[in-house]
Amino acid sequence: MSVIEKFTTMEYGPAPEDPKESLLWLDRHQRRFGHFIAGRFTTPVEGKYFETSDPGTGEKIADVAQGSAADIDAAVKAARAALPAWQKLSGHQRARFLYALARQVQKHSRRLAVLETLDNGKPIRESRDIDIPLVARHFYHHAGWAQLLAQEFPGYQPCGVVGQIIPWNFPLLMLAWKIAPALATGNTVVLKPAEFTPLTALAFAELSNEVGLPAGVVNIVTGDGATGEALVRHPGVDKIAFTGSTEVGRAIRRATAPSHKKLSLELGGKSPFIIFEDADLDSAVEGLVDGIWFNQGQVCCAGSRLLVQESVAEKLTRKLQARMSTLRVGSPLDKAIDIGAIIARVQLERIDGLVKQGIAEGATCWQPDIVLPSRGLYYKPTLLSNVHPTSIVAQQEIFGPVLAAMTFRTPPEAVQLANNTVYGLAASVWSESVNVALQAAAQIKAGVVWVNSTNLFDAACGFGGYRESGYGREGGREGLVEYLEPTWLKNAPNFAPNLAPGSGQTSSSSSSAAADVANPITNIDRTVKLYIGGKQSRPDSGYSIPVHGRNGELLGEAPLGNRKDIRNAVEAARKAQGWAKTTAHNRAQILFYIAENLSQRTDEITTRLSAAIGEKQAAQEVQASVERLFCYAAWCDKFDGAVHNPPFRNISIAMNEPIGTVGLICPSDSPLLGFFSLALPLICAGNTVVAVPSEKYPLITGDLYQVLETSDLPGGVINLVTGRSSELLKVLAEHDDLDAVWCYGDESLCAAAKALSAGNLKQVWTNEGRKIDWSDAVQGEGRWFLQHAYQVKNIWVPYGE
Ligand code: NAI
Repeated sequence: MSVIEKFTTMEYGPAPEDPKESLLWLDRHQRRFGHFIAGRFTTPVEGKYFETSDPGTGEKIADVAQGSAADIDAAVKAARAALPAWQKLSGHQRARFLYALARQVQKHSRRLAVLETLDNGKPIRESRDIDIPLVARHFYHHAGWAQLLAQEFPGYQPCGVVGQIIPWNFPLLMLAWKIAPALATGNTVVLKPAEFTPLTALAFAELSNEVGLPAGVVNIVTGDGATGEALVRHPGVDKIAFTGSTEVGRAIRRATAPSHKKLSLELGGKSPFIIFEDADLDSAVEGLVDGIWFNQGQVCCAGSRLLVQESVAEKLTRKLQARMSTLRVGSPLDKAIDIGAIIARVQLERIDGLVKQGIAEGATCWQPDIVLPSRGLYYKPTLLSNVHPTSIVAQQEIFGPVLAAMTFRTPPEAVQLANNTVYGLAASVWSESVNVALQAAAQIKAGVVWVNSTNLFDAACGFGGYRESGYGREGGREGLVEYLEPTWLKNAPNFAPNLAPGSGQTSSSSSSAAADVANPITNIDRTVKLYIGGKQSRPDSGYSIPVHGRNGELLGEAPLGNRKDIRNAVEAARKAQGWAKTTAHNRAQILFYIAENLSQRTDEITTRLSAAIGEKQAAQEVQASVERLFCYAAWCDKFDGAVHNPPFRNISIAMNEPIGTVGLICPSDSPLLGFFSLALPLICAGNTVVAVPSEKYPLITGDLYQVLETSDLPGGVINLVTGRSSELLKVLAEHDDLDAVWCYGDESLCAAAKALSAGNLKQVWTNEGRKIDWSDAVQGEGRWFLQHAYQVKNIWVPYGE
């Protein structure tokens, strides 16, 4: 037999990893684990345990405690008790703990990798070569941030006690993504691992003791969704960080709405994998293997939608099928397999059910002729082609080894198809032309775009979604911000209730004549209009609200905007989204021009505003607004992104992109400066805005549109709809075409903004009911606002050979 014949006929023999060390560790714990609270393993209060099993064999591995509300309470108390001493440490001291954790993970990397594979079913090759090294990398990287924190984030402080809830697909890696930045920034943690995969979190807890991490800094409570819910609802928690399904993300958004808990959500995805006709098809096929069959496709950013240019579709399908036929599905501990076991029977059934539904909806199903192990939970790599873009398998996250393929003709069509989803987590783009690839990358709505690569992660690079894939980033500087808050904000007093002392009964517009006569200050007609799409317009309702001054005198009338007015304004704002493409230089010029026009009207605006808020504040607001305009004109071309240098042959370009169209409820107590302080960072970033001006003094609208109209701001970039803040907030928050809501008001208004926005998970940013001194530049302007006006997209670009 020739060498070539031998090579082609050779079979793989089994190459199992030795699980002895991990099994010994389990036995040392009698295969029964309590929670890890205040530095030691404890018995669960209600004495309940559940089994965790090996998806590769179906065999039970260990019993794990089912966390109750009482266990969560004990853990939160331990975290709270540990907080002062932990925060008192210097950045350097915390850095040493993080460094020690990184070292300890490395020392025990093989045991952790095997344990992960036993509990999760992922191939040992992946846990050994990807998950655990990245865990160590995360702790190293964040040891560095702990060291630099005071220098790099002056004026910020940690959130406090952080509740973290993680899924089962990357158990220890998700723990590292959560715990490392939380500790680096001086928070203490209660973490709940997923019920299918609690073991590596418990092993990590033990390692944290071994390095002498102070008791209570990290607490692990195991359990199911109910345990997670108890953590989310616990009043002693200051922030929740969640990774998991969009559905649970939505429930958490609602549950945390009435509280001041900061929230970051990393949710599902249906990420496009786009292959242009000039791509290196062989590389793209290898990319697909990583994109959708890595971790059995149970990856939130899996390239689960293949979009291939029609001209190469057939050729690519042939190559792909040939490659799929060589994939080996088998025991996760076997070092030579590609695809391991599915996490649980319920997930296997879900995958199979969705595939069957896809076929019923017209998809063609192809699976290679390979043998699956006789026991355990396995699913063949699956290619669904001729998938209609509206089919369930093109729209819903399958979370399994299933690729749904579609074709496109032109690059714009590819982008359109790519964005035809409620999600926006990741995308992979394949083309040998840098222009084609980067053009597509810029237009795809996703938090991460990999060019000629896929599923690359690093501690220095932000990861997170657009749209219903969640908000907030994990990794690098972008991720750290999620665990910090400006010190002034934490200490700010509460805002007065959001009532409108100036506005009384609704009146029909015909009564406005009375208002003119009743205005003793200026004696001019102050019946203002709405401002939509660059034009003044009457309210749909035909009603207006009388606006009174500080002494109860009638100052004028403002339109009572309603649902229809908001809809028109949102439409106008979306039409104006070309604003994002205007150069930053041009946006700056327009902001300077607005400042010039405002400045010229200083006297008249101050006089009118005085009647509502007093002369002193009015003069201050006009003057400070001019300054604020200069400030954001300055920022327009300076709030740049970053280039990260992950330890691969890639760079990751962190681009600051606008969120889109944002609804804005302006603070009532600062009609002019409050409006500018919030609308300016938004338009500086390229967003378009639908604003509800101060409910207390909505007449400011008239002055605003006069200034804006004469300043070259394209129509529709800022739209003004006056009316009752709480009513208009509901319309804004529930509007599916709005990408975010900023709500500045009292506590109840802020809580409503968060609860009402849960539907399409739009980003919500509020003042948490706290009073902001807009005249203080530390509180009222700068990076804190800009960070919320942008979302970061990381574009990974390969270089080198
Ligand atoms: P899940 O979202 O229910 O679970 C994630 C974590 O949240 C687990 O720790 C769970 O115990 C906890 N949890 C569940 N309900 C909760 C609640 N009401 N309050 C607080 N915590 C709660 O995800 P599941 O059921 O494991 O998987 C279902 C589907 O979700 C998958 O098929 C997949 O499509 C998607 N998924 C997405 C993930 C991602 O990384 N984006 C990760 C895991 C699942």
